[in-house]
Amino acid sequence: MANGKTALVVGASRGLGLGFTRELAARGWSVIATARDPGRATELAAIGPSVEVEAFDVNDLAGLNRLKARLAGRKLDLLLVNAGVAGPTGDELRAPSNKITELFLTNSVAPIRIADTLKYDVRDGGVIGFVTSGLGSVGQPMGPGFILYKGSKAALNSMTRTFTSELGRPGVTVLSISPGWVRTDMGGPDAPLSVEQSAKGVVDLIEAKAGTGEHGFYGMRGETIPW
Ligand SMILES: NC(=O)c1ccc[n+]([C@@H]2O[C@H](COP(=O)([O-])OP(=O)(O)OC[C@H]3O[C@@H](n4cnc5c(N)ncnc54)[C@H](OP(=O)(O)O)[C@@H]3O)[C@@H](O)[C@H]2O)c1
Repeated sequence: MANGKTALVVGASRGLGLGFTRELAARGWSVIATARDPGRATELAAIGPSVEVEAFDVNDLAGLNRLKARLAGRKLDLLLVNAGVAGPTGDELRAPSNKITELFLTNSVAPIRIADTLKYDVRDGGVIGFVTSGLGSVGQPMGPGFILYKGSKAALNSMTRTFTSELGRPGVTVLSISPGWVRTDMGGPDAPLSVEQSAKGVVDLIEAKAGTGEHGFYGMRGETIPW
């Protein structure tokens, strides 16, 4: 049954974004879900009439302005920015510069640019959620590997904190969310969590924190993660 709440999930074609959209729709949310190529996002379109699909590439500034215009003043109870890429593999530091630029634009800058563009479309009492990663925590021991991906999520977390300090919306909760290690195209088949398990935990967290106006870095079980 509809709960009267509206979410915008950015990057919902597959993996976790698709799972978040399914979980929100199952709980009665109306969801505006974005996909780079809606024609290929068949599972998203099949969720049901409470899900509207919009075409959007997070790195396309003109597309972001078009998305804002299409929202036409509709108020969001949740803006969930999920889209992300793993970035170059192998000898990461010697990857083509355009691949490194694409990683940092997609994972670090685009989420903040999206939130900054849509911040007044989020209702007082609503939530802005950034899907980051525990691997972006610089306050925990840092192991080897994924040097660029980890840096891109640490940069996202840093920019999220500046964004939040400038937001001027005390009624809006800002969550930096680590979804855990999840079996998706990015997470691979050996990850311990299913998309459904992570999505349930993340949506529980969002619903519990809505209206608190706080800003924190949380895992999918609601645990606090050091920045
Ligand atoms: N899986 C994990 O274990 C894990 C752990 C920690 C954090 N995360 C984070 O969780 C988020 C989702 O990851 P996932 O595992 O679901 O990855 P995934 O299966 O690879 O899916 C990535 C999603 O991001 C979208 N995307 C990528 N670049 C985009 C762009 N330029 N514009 C619009 N959409 C774009 C993809 O759309 P297309 O279908 O068009 O490519 C797809 O919907 C990411 O931010 C990731 O860093 C994942």
